[in-house]
Amino acid sequence: MIVVTGGAGFIGANFVHQWLAAERDPVLVVDKLTYAGNLDNLSGLRGDPRFGFAQVDICDRAAVAGLLAARRPRALVHFAAESHVDRSISGPGEFIRTNINGTFELLEAARAHWSALDGGDRAAFRFLHVSTDEVYGSLGEADPAFSETTAYAPNSPYAASKAASDHLVRAYHHTYGLPTVTTNCSNNYGPYQFPEKLIPLMILNALEGKPLPVYGDGANVRDWLYVGDHCSAIRRTLGAGRLGETYNIGGKSEMRNLDVVHAICAVLDELRPRAKGRYADQIRFVTDRPGHDRRYAIDPRKIEGELDWRPAQTFEAGIRLTVQWYLDNTQWTERVRSGGYRDWIQANYGERLGEQARQ
Ligand code: NAD
Ligand code: TYD
Repeated sequence: MIVVTGGAGFIGANFVHQWLAAERDPVLVVDKLTYAGNLDNLSGLRGDPRFGFAQVDICDRAAVAGLLAARRPRALVHFAAESHVDRSISGPGEFIRTNINGTFELLEAARAHWSALDGGDRAAFRFLHVSTDEVYGSLGEADPAFSETTAYAPNSPYAASKAASDHLVRAYHHTYGLPTVTTNCSNNYGPYQFPEKLIPLMILNALEGKPLPVYGDGANVRDWLYVGDHCSAIRRTLGAGRLGETYNIGGKSEMRNLDVVHAICAVLDELRPRAKGRYADQIRFVTDRPGHDRRYAIDPRKIEGELDWRPAQTFEAGIRLTVQWYLDNTQWTERVRSGGYRDWIQANYGERLGEQARQ
């Protein structure tokens, strides 16, 4: 079996669904269930004998060690993290705790587990660390895309905490021989994404007739990948990635934020037209994010060449699937947008939109 940390979050849940549909091994999800973790994301799997769940904080080494000893996984796929840049700006502490200390505790538990395995099991064990392209910092318009040898230059507390976790994983391979592989992926979108991130926030605000808050001039560039393609890349890397290596994952789909928002509006105009006007009328330019990285772009040649991985979705197809998913799953969105969610929206956007109104 395999252990998946953070499996109740956006990418982790998509990964678990894909894994159980495509692979044989059972899965144990280890998740603390923070505001971003949601058992609804896994509800379709209740009753599946290959699926298990443990509500555990990865910082709790003894609890994780107990699970590893009892379940003897052949692999650990590590998604659990605090993941939202804006939250890392207003409250970095939790990012240090989970992303750095949590990864350290997990590595220690994994190292003890792996050291106690015998011959074949020990050789087959894998620790796959899921990371981000944000560790590389920000690109200028004409710079080449991030490759695996690009120097780390994280700019937000989120990116810095992920960079630190990547370095710990690297050191555990180099020093102790722990069989690790790290993936650094670009921005994901798709089903089950918590509506604090750009794409689901815009879809839901649009449908509710609320402003669509574009930070700064809207010309920041992200390299978008459909979440199912990220999950297929992780499965491929887990199966065939070389130990101690890092693999950049991306779909060669760079877009300016404003163009992403217009693309969402166009799909909504078609699938759920407004009574009057167009969704793009709701776009508002608001105060920029402090230290906002200008451009991310992934050079995926290593994973394409070595592991023969390619994304299956274009942005046009993926965004349509995503908008349709949010239209079809209104109960899910109502439930995740509880009291705590409203507090966050007020804290992050109250002033930004207020300033815009005063201009
Ligand atoms: P998410 O915020 O949706 O989910 C994170 C999950 O981790 C939640 O289920 C949460 O409950 C759990 N978690 C948080 N702290 C924990 C702790 N201390 N112990 C146990 N569980 C804990 O995040 P996501 O967008 O699914 O991202 C998953 C991983 O992928 C992260 O490591 C992130 O850095 C990385 N990543 C994300 C993107 C993206 O675009 N979302 C891109 C590249 C890499
Ligand atoms: P986000 O989804 O938070 O991902 P990340 O910061 O990790 O790339 O944001 C994606 C881009 O969209 C980023 O450039 C910030 C911008 N953005 C907005 O313009 N408005 C918003 O309300 C949000 C949440 C993000």
